[in-house]
Amino acid sequence: MNQIKLAPSILSADFSRIGEIVQETESAGADYIHVDVMDGEFVPNLTIGPMVVEAIRAHTNLPLDVHLMIIRPEKLISEFIASGANKITVHREAIDDLLPVVDMIKNLGAKAGVSINPSTPASSIKDILPDLDLVLAMSVNPGFGGQSFIQSVLPKIQLLRIMIDEQQLPIELEVDGGIKFDNVGRAIQAGADVIVAGSAIYNKDFSIQGSLDKMRESILAASDNA
Ligand code: DX5
Ligand code: ZN
Repeated sequence: MNQIKLAPSILSADFSRIGEIVQETESAGADYIHVDVMDGEFVPNLTIGPMVVEAIRAHTNLPLDVHLMIIRPEKLISEFIASGANKITVHREAIDDLLPVVDMIKNLGAKAGVSINPSTPASSIKDILPDLDLVLAMSVNPGFGGQSFIQSVLPKIQLLRIMIDEQQLPIELEVDGGIKFDNVGRAIQAGADVIVAGSAIYNKDFSIQGSLDKMRESILAASDNA
């Protein structure tokens, strides 16, 4: 099993203190900062644009893992990369022809990912898989933080793991949505190697360091049982 990476989603963070929070997240040992971009069209919520990515970039050296939940992402990809995004993930459901968009991301120097919603099958990205750097399996319907993990995506995560391993592709398999200390183990055992977590990391009960430590402990316990 690979070293599992943690990508806290700042969607649940206090945006009035976002610079400090991103610094604190880096000091606490996060691997990436996950940035959820929503356009009010692909999903019924509106969040972050390139200006905010640029502001965050100034506060951390961690890779910025930018999750575009938007229609027509090709219009904004170059701006997000110029603002400091290192990884750009677009949605399968938002794009008919993925290859030109994936090529655009890679030609601009970022890592390219494709995300699939809980109801979208793994087969929908089979052909594009060799061209990708990451696959993002949603374990909630995108749009909001703090939702419950949809258990029925676990077999699909297992299938994606098999598809990636069979072809020995150097792809990160990221799982996003509803991941908490008590269910992260299921995502790991299904084959995830990057865990996105928002409300489990940014909350009133624990410090960012405390939450990240607890998440790592849960991951270690799951890895020992694998
Ligand atoms: C949902 C976003 C997720 C979400 C994660 O549309 O893509 O990244 O913010 O937050 P939690 O961990 O609270 O589900
Ligand atoms: Zn996300």
